[in-house]
Amino acid sequence: MDFYQAAKEEIKRSADIVELIGQYVQLKKAGLNHVGLCPFHGDKDPSFSVSSTKQIFHCFGCKKGGDIFTFWMEYHKVSYSQAIKELAEKYHVVLPEKKITPEKRHELDLKEEIYRINGAAAAYYNYILVKTALGKKGIGYFDKRSITPEIIDRFKLGYASEDWDGLTRFLSGRDVNLEKAEKAGLLITKKNGGYYDRFRGRVIFPIFTMEGKVAGFGGRVLDNSLPKYLNTPETSIFHKGELLYGLNTAFPHIRETGRVVIVEGYTDVLALNKHGFYAAVATLGTALTQNHLRKLKGFSREIIVVFDADSAGKSAAVRSLPLFLNEGLSARVMILPEGDDPDTFMNSRGLDAFLSHLDRAMPLYDFYIESKLKTVEPGIAGKLEILKEVIPVLSEITSDIQRSVYIKHLCERCDVSESVVLTELNRLRGTVSGKGNIARLESVQTGSGVKSLKEYHLLNLIIHSPGIAGRALVDDFKMLISTDEVVKIFNILAEEYRLKKNIDPAQILEHMQEGQERDIFNEVMLSEPIYKGPAVEQAVLEFENRIYDIKLSNSINEAKSSGNIEKLNELVKLRKAI
Ligand code: GTP
Ligand code: MN
Repeated sequence: MDFYQAAKEEIKRSADIVELIGQYVQLKKAGLNHVGLCPFHGDKDPSFSVSSTKQIFHCFGCKKGGDIFTFWMEYHKVSYSQAIKELAEKYHVVLPEKKITPEKRHELDLKEEIYRINGAAAAYYNYILVKTALGKKGIGYFDKRSITPEIIDRFKLGYASEDWDGLTRFLSGRDVNLEKAEKAGLLITKKNGGYYDRFRGRVIFPIFTMEGKVAGFGGRVLDNSLPKYLNTPETSIFHKGELLYGLNTAFPHIRETGRVVIVEGYTDVLALNKHGFYAAVATLGTALTQNHLRKLKGFSREIIVVFDADSAGKSAAVRSLPLFLNEGLSARVMILPEGDDPDTFMNSRGLDAFLSHLDRAMPLYDFYIESKLKTVEPGIAGKLEILKEVIPVLSEITSDIQRSVYIKHLCERCDVSESVVLTELNRLRGTVSGKGNIARLESVQTGSGVKSLKEYHLLNLIIHSPGIAGRALVDDFKMLISTDEVVKIFNILAEEYRLKKNIDPAQILEHMQEGQERDIFNEVMLSEPIYKGPAVEQAVLEFENRIYDIKLSNSINEAKSSGNIEKLNELVKLRKAI
């Protein structure tokens, strides 16, 4: 038996899968289940289903499914035992101690202790700011920057006075182990023993985890001295590449609206909040990372990145593209007028102006290509330069269909033939170790020319399981297809089957004319089968059921418009029965 069996059962009793997954995925009640957009593949129609009665989830698109532990593992990309540990912590279930080595226990205890000390320090800085004479300077500064008392309270802002040991004394007065406060990055060891405060003469921005624990701090000087901002150094709990400022308060709003705006500075988040835009977070002065995006992915369908209009801002936007492509996230770029950041923009122009800029934010990929086109010489040499830069990025995209959409766009914008790009890409992909070669249709994001993911699933099914050709290559199945190229492919396959009672996809491909059908066919051939073993039969059944549904709805509509009530009643009963 699993060493953790008892603990697992207890976690399952304490947790509710709908509530847990609901923290990461926007879920809506639908019948007995809750449904939402699958966080594991580029999902456009909600195909992700969570059952409260069975306490399991399942995605009808990518077929991922399981219990809360599976969800946690997949979502947070952690091991099985790590998932159990994290969920145990979340639901206050004590795990059997045997597995935890004394070192591990020590490490965990230290982390908890650091969170606790940080919490105390945040309260101290806030107290100094709000309640003491020392805080006047801080209040004056916030006031000058139009940061209101409500914002100070919501974000627990603070002030570290110019004293060398204000926090040191406060913490020792509270019996806090100063060695640990040093490990939290709050204190610095003096050469000849003792400690002094790291943050002095700065306004303080506590940085919270998504659960609302204080992971670290940012501190800003009140004048023009340098460094402008000082952050907690990397500690066992403070990792700049993972934390997002403002996420703990933005989180419910992001989930509600399905979109999030990423800005560069703490003060930008504050100004947006002050003017009523809550779904905003900031990186901590570092570039965006894959970890940041993973934090946002499950509950935001769309990410809008705001970069400064200067060249550094633009190049940061450009550099972030591969991250978004690989996470299958739709991203847009919002560029503010030269010289503005969201803070100055909000305070001078207000929410409506911001929202209208937001509406006009450009897809990141377009922005990427456009800004590249602007920086190169016109003519073939310049185009080649762009291709050289963009193709390696595209070669990293794991989804075949998505890649092909981007390639097409690139070719159109640069006015080069697709075969040039494809040849170069294949050459590159051949050398990319494994990663780029795994075709994952599940993560397909539908784009121009690609009408629905399901069609590609169907195509994948037929091409990879020729055994079911007889059942699937019938006219009814065409109801499931709306993309012209896919219809053409379907017809070719059906004709082949009619003549030979058998299909050989490789041979068909050989005889296919150049064109988009051939590209799609090729991609599906090269991609992994989505359905294997018993899933094949299950998939055929699902498609057949869908066809039945469509037919039934069509008949119902007909009966409705012809006023045939008797027939309508009968049909509606039929629908209820399935
Ligand atoms: P304000 O001048 O207060 O409005 O700050 P800003 O947010 O507009 O500053 P800027 O655009 O220069 O920087 C954006 C973010 O980068 C800041 O919020 C910080 O997180 C980070 N940053 C800026 N300057 C420094 C610095 O000197 N040191 C460190 N560690 N981070 C910085
Ligand atoms: Mn600013």
